[in-house]
Amino acid sequence: MIFIWTSDLDTGIEIIDEQHKRIVDYINMLESARRKKDRQAVAHVLDELVDYTCSHFAFEESLQVEAGYIYATPHKAVHAIFIKRIASYQEKHNAGEDVAEKLLAMLGTWLVHHIKRDDMAYVAEIKNQIDVIVQDKEQAGWLSRSLGMFFK
Ligand SMILES: [Fe+2]
Ligand SMILES: [Fe+2]
Repeated sequence: MIFIWTSDLDTGIEIIDEQHKRIVDYINMLESARRKKDRQAVAHVLDELVDYTCSHFAFEESLQVEAGYIYATPHKAVHAIFIKRIASYQEKHNAGEDVAEKLLAMLGTWLVHHIKRDDMAYVAEIKNQIDVIVQDKEQAGWLSRSLGMFFK
């Protein structure tokens, strides 16, 4: 099923929303590879999705630490558990199992749930500080540097 972005997933922080939308793009690319029954393409998109998602997580975690978000550590743990879950699907896929459909269902459900519950929670808590941090750091060149550091 194609994942359609809906406005209730907008956090209001543009840079975060752009990254979330890009993850959705990867999920949709994965769905199209699955439909074509192209196992190699599934593996390739999955690698890219994991790579990009890890970068997004690292970026989000650094913003939370900068803003002094009290739940930064548990949020980071939730990200780590998710990456482990995807890794186990990747292993199964590489071992020849047909897991793409299950994986896609998990990805969509997890992302919606995580954005609506966990990401919205930190945004609501530190929105003002994040705006200031992003603005300050943008001026100081931090944003482009850290984007370059987290995203290839
Ligand atoms: Fe998150
Ligand atoms: Fe996020």
